[in-house]
Amino acid sequence: MKQFISALDVPGIPALVQEALHYKNNPLADRQLGQGKRLGLMFFNPSLRTRLSTQIAAQQLGMESIVFNAGQDGWAFEFADGAVMNGSTVEHIKDAAPVLSSYFDILCIRTFPGLVDRDQDYAEFVLQQFIKHIRIPVVSLESATLHPLQSLADIITLEEHKPAARRPKVVLSWAPHIKSIPQCVSNSFAQWVNAWGQADFVITHPEGYELAEDYTRGAQITHNQQEALQDADFVYVKNWSSYNDYGKVLHDGAGWMLDEQKLKAAPAAKVMHCLPVRRNLELSDEILDGPRSLVSQQAANRVWSAQAVLSRILKSL
Ligand code: CP
Repeated sequence: MKQFISALDVPGIPALVQEALHYKNNPLADRQLGQGKRLGLMFFNPSLRTRLSTQIAAQQLGMESIVFNAGQDGWAFEFADGAVMNGSTVEHIKDAAPVLSSYFDILCIRTFPGLVDRDQDYAEFVLQQFIKHIRIPVVSLESATLHPLQSLADIITLEEHKPAARRPKVVLSWAPHIKSIPQCVSNSFAQWVNAWGQADFVITHPEGYELAEDYTRGAQITHNQQEALQDADFVYVKNWSSYNDYGKVLHDGAGWMLDEQKLKAAPAAKVMHCLPVRRNLELSDEILDGPRSLVSQQAANRVWSAQAVLSRILKSL
């Protein structure tokens, strides 16, 4: 594997899930694999789980990792080719990329969307400029449109908790929020569940919150949340802002928070969320603190997700 920015970079998701579960049972099985190799983690945005789980994964593979908070500590990057740099940007990606390529063996990047210019965000302008100019493999720590390490952890969690004898019903359910939130986690979850191919997949959201079809194709989509929840095995709860009316909050969310009352239609359902979660806005305390919640297991699986991906890239260097 030469890069990890999307499910499209993974030829066989079930095999990668098994590699992650192997590391879960044997965290130090490949502790020599990354000896003498260095991982750079560049953050343009905040993180708790992604930062720590990727560092732990690297450590368990014998790699050294260095975190760089580009959004706070670095020179302001210029990404536009041919820019006249007489404004606020100080360092062009063309100059920074060779430097980073000489310091690191793998570079991980978190860069959120601006949620203003859809074409620029969905072209993954910043991430693609890194990929264009850098000479080492790139791993996404969440980009403008996708969050693949989270999605791999989510599929690992589905694999561990799915019913033994039948395909699970997995529902992605839109949730209320007070802010304009990227579509990355939801796009990515949809892309990975579809690519995994082992679930009946339903997406439910209010009108106006349709996600990009490139990711949702194959899923059943409904505006009727209660109908979607019927007999669900897993409900993945997440807010996202509008894709069509790009970045806008169109709905106050009234009636869309998942609670136990709604799950009377899905008595066995497990509930997932990538975290951080706005309690009693996106999801009720009763669900998050109760036996249905898988949110801690998902976060724990971020380590094995990152370890499986880094391992595959190390083996390809
Ligand atoms: N789920 C997730 O990516 O968490 P962080 O933003 O804390 O890394």
